[in-house]
Amino acid sequence: MTDIRDDVTAGFTAVFGHEPDGLWSAPGRVNLIGEHTDYNLGFVLPFAIDRRTVVGVGLRDDRLLRAASTFADELVEISLDALAALSSEDAGRELGGWSAYVLGVAWALGLDEFGGDLAAVPGLDLFIDSDVPVGAGLSSSAAIESAVALALNDVWRVELDRPTLARVGQRAENIAVGAPTGIMDQSASLLGVRDHAVFLDCRSLEAQVVPLGLDEAGLVVLVIDTGVKHSHATGGYGERRAACERGAAAMGVESLRDVTVADLPRARELLDDVTYRRVAHVVTENQRVLDTVDTLRGESGMLLGEADEDGSGSSTVAVGPGGPLAIGELLDASHRSMRDDFEISVPELDLAVETAVGAGAIGARMTGGGFGGAAIALVKLDDLSRVQVAVDNAFSEHGFAAPDTFVVRASDGAARN
Ligand code: GLA
Repeated sequence: MTDIRDDVTAGFTAVFGHEPDGLWSAPGRVNLIGEHTDYNLGFVLPFAIDRRTVVGVGLRDDRLLRAASTFADELVEISLDALAALSSEDAGRELGGWSAYVLGVAWALGLDEFGGDLAAVPGLDLFIDSDVPVGAGLSSSAAIESAVALALNDVWRVELDRPTLARVGQRAENIAVGAPTGIMDQSASLLGVRDHAVFLDCRSLEAQVVPLGLDEAGLVVLVIDTGVKHSHATGGYGERRAACERGAAAMGVESLRDVTVADLPRARELLDDVTYRRVAHVVTENQRVLDTVDTLRGESGMLLGEADEDGSGSSTVAVGPGGPLAIGELLDASHRSMRDDFEISVPELDLAVETAVGAGAIGARMTGGGFGGAAIALVKLDDLSRVQVAVDNAFSEHGFAAPDTFVVRASDGAARN
């Protein structure tokens, strides 16, 4: 963290010839549970991680916005007047590459829905560096958007609150970058609190922080980055979103938030098999988020939508007393649901999850949008190296490239400095 700050100050100075007026930073995130539920207006439970993007900002006395970074050897420049004049269509077409995350946020701040007025604000120089791995499903893009959104909000005195800044970042991602993503990543990056997860209701946007209690339980969260790259601006992510919208329309509800586990038999009758399985994932995943929150808070958790051990098909399985040691089965069930019903896993993620659990992890699941990226495993500190070695060996045996494994800690959200 200190290193990145120093790098940003040095990089800023090298490009712009003077030191920045201030530094802002924002973290990536891990989603503990609640995948593809955000754009269905359901529940998510991510946490901000100790990997951050830092932006250095310098005020200019003209109306130019200039941005440079360690991502590419280029200085991108646009006048605020030209930026403000871009329609949504133009923003999608004309902003591209890494700078779309930066300029997209500035553009989104000027939208009527945020009361923004880019006509009266000064130009800025921006320099960005990050240690959030790119393409690993840890929201490197939301980290950039959230750091820039908080910085611009401060220096331009826009005075939006953090939940609204999350929406600004989401607009940048949806329109300038062109990925039809939900509100989870930016919310985690802006609202995170050390050692807590962010329990977000994506319909009301009401957020509560929930203590994870990992230290007390002797647990850590291990990230297993498979190295399989994905993009949510193309392909599978948008298709899954469309299937959810189709399912909601067929069930006569505004969003899948309004469908419960008890409605699934009716869904099965109404929907074709693929759409049903997409819907079943979202509906059971929402319930798993609620159960995880209850379990972490020490209330007895229940896992819905799974068969009993005797195969009788009962829809509930008790997962025992509360605390993080008791959420393993919920994580495992979430992964199965994404693998079998939502079909967004890949062989590398399945192997990471199976191997981690086989080597003693309390629970494991892929995290993020899927089609690549990372899995997380909840592991007792004593078992950590055993799990890491087992995963490395399994990848090598299967001929997969060595994964990058590292522990993450739940951290504070975006901040100045
Ligand atoms: C990506 C998106 C999020 C969310 C997840 C899946 O990370 O950016 O909005 O939809 O995928 O849970």
